[in-house]
Amino acid sequence: MTTVRATAPGRVNLIGEHTDYNGGLCLPIAIPLGTTATVTRRDDEAVHVTSDRAPEGSAWRQYVDGVVAELRTLGWAVPGLDIEVTSTLPLGGGLSSSAALECAVATAVAGLLGHELDSHLRRVLAEVARRAETLHVGAPTGGMDQLASMLGWPDHALLLDFADLERPGVTPVPCRPGAAGVVLLVTDTGVRHRLADGDGGYAQRRRECEAGDPRRWRHVRSENERVRAAAAAMEAGAWGRVGELMVASHVSLRDDFEVSCRELDLTVEAALAAGALGSRMTGGGFGGCTITVTHEGRVDAVRDGIDAAYEAAGLPRPVHHEVAPAEGARLT
Ligand code: GLA
Repeated sequence: MTTVRATAPGRVNLIGEHTDYNGGLCLPIAIPLGTTATVTRRDDEAVHVTSDRAPEGSAWRQYVDGVVAELRTLGWAVPGLDIEVTSTLPLGGGLSSSAALECAVATAVAGLLGHELDSHLRRVLAEVARRAETLHVGAPTGGMDQLASMLGWPDHALLLDFADLERPGVTPVPCRPGAAGVVLLVTDTGVRHRLADGDGGYAQRRRECEAGDPRRWRHVRSENERVRAAAAAMEAGAWGRVGELMVASHVSLRDDFEVSCRELDLTVEAALAAGALGSRMTGGGFGGCTITVTHEGRVDAVRDGIDAAYEAAGLPRPVHHEVAPAEGARLT
């Protein structure tokens, strides 16, 4: 075969933030938005990347090069490639557009070389993607995003346990908001962050955790307990309890871990004021998205309440996406 196409999803973390690189727990879902990579074998050694997102897409080059380099480190004979990338994910918006890109390219190349995409290979490719981002792009991410993108499953969240960083535990937990008359609403604040910025907040928080900062660790410990409780509540369909835990997570991220920002706080407060069951920032923070859980009947009120709060604050209108657990990376 000379041309193979693969799609990999972005993710939303329901709860468990800044825990992955601290040996803790998180609970992401893969979402229906994603990135598609079409790879065609070339006769020479060159790797060419084109995308529908130029000029932003030019930043994608380093992720692609990182994935190809890491696949070659595995011993794979990756040939020269033409890679065409398209995406429905907002870039740098907190929905793991970078993990989706890495996983789409890795999955497509695996397909081109005839490897079977079984659960073992999915884990290997998640690690390839994480290493590409950490070693080649310089974004010291923890591994949650790449595992969610490779292993995501409809009607399930993934309880990820990073106690063994070499081999994270992956437990699918039933996640059927629709069956309980509940909606998961992602709101993109429009504020962009860059995880690869060495002086940025994400890398700084990692350093503070490594140094044993007690307040940062108070967040990590309490967050791990909330993840356990939320996984149990979600499996039981107790979305009101999940919502309470999400709010407690947001408060801890805002006050103890200090990775929220004005727009994230405003979104969470407006969602709760409009009757949502729970809401929190999701992802690394300093911008990006919130995740809100609300009864179906209130979703319009919640959306309108958030929009009105942005308007009153003089902020550009945010973008909302209703999401549900989706399938991980696949050939398409
Ligand atoms: C980013 C990183 C993840 C994780 C989250 C915070 O999304 O890529 O590995 O650390 O931030 O939970």
